[in-house]
Amino acid sequence: METVGKKSVKTIAITSGKGGVGKTNVTANLAIGFSKLCKKVLILDADLGLSNIDVILNLATKYNIRHLFSGEKKLKDLIVEGPQGINVLPASSGVQELTSLNEFQRLRLIEEFDSYENDMDILLIDTASGISANVAFFCIAAQDIIVVTSPEPTAITDAYAVIKVLFTKYQEKNFKVLVNSVKNSKEAIDVYKRLSSATERFLSISLDYIGHIPYDDSVSKAVRAQKALIEIYPDSEASKSLIEIASRLCNDNKDNVKGTLQFFLGSLLNPKNVL
Ligand SMILES: Nc1ncnc2c1ncn2[C@@H]1O[C@H](COP(=O)(O)OP(=O)(O)OP(=O)(O)O)[C@@H](O)[C@H]1O
Ligand SMILES: [Mg+2]
Repeated sequence: METVGKKSVKTIAITSGKGGVGKTNVTANLAIGFSKLCKKVLILDADLGLSNIDVILNLATKYNIRHLFSGEKKLKDLIVEGPQGINVLPASSGVQELTSLNEFQRLRLIEEFDSYENDMDILLIDTASGISANVAFFCIAAQDIIVVTSPEPTAITDAYAVIKVLFTKYQEKNFKVLVNSVKNSKEAIDVYKRLSSATERFLSISLDYIGHIPYDDSVSKAVRAQKALIEIYPDSEASKSLIEIASRLCNDNKDNVKGTLQFFLGSLLNPKNVL
């Protein structure tokens, strides 16, 4: 695929294995963190679960992907504006269908993203839990994969299972680990070491550590208020960690062949290319 002259858009998939470990909250708040760092962000909500980005941020969706293919609406009409100017393409707009489109629909979508490209620096993808083909497509198409885990043994085991599938089936070797809901940094490092020693021993891949977020009551308070944590509790410990992680990710400018929106769309829309 032609990528010369195209803008570099950082694409990051947030995944986990076990459900309920904090992916959606991490995605929404990292997006706001990036926005505070002057980056334009689009969230692709790839999970049709219950506690979606549009629910936790109280966003209303009007149109779906069918309006796009029928020519009635443009991509920008499907996108909803969230706090701090972040943009969200909600799951209810049909994001999951992106991995099963016909040729006409693919071309139409690429055209739409091409004209939207200048409005984004970072594309964040909130995936479903588990490791369905759909989750895998979004992960392997993205430049970075963040695996979120909590300190619970089941969450660590499931994080390992996701990494194992993405490596053995799709040859993915780069993973960033984010440990959520911890007591302190020592607990987070212990979790990271447990996970990375398993992947080093059984898969021969080493994992990057991207940071931790403490267990913090403000997170569920913000969810109940349907407001972003960073907006209503900016001084909470969890908010401080999320801002730190956002700036670490922003400064991580490794050259990566997967660093364009065209690569992302190319692999997402033509999964056979990468399988
Ligand atoms: N750091 C934290 N401190 C305290 N509670 C947290 C923290 N992170 C997440 N939670 C709680 O966990 C709940 C689930 O979080 P979230 O919806 O982000 O998880 P998820 O991984 O996206 O879930 P799913 O797999 O269902 O999509 C939140 O509603 C919140 O109450
Ligand atoms: Mg979620």
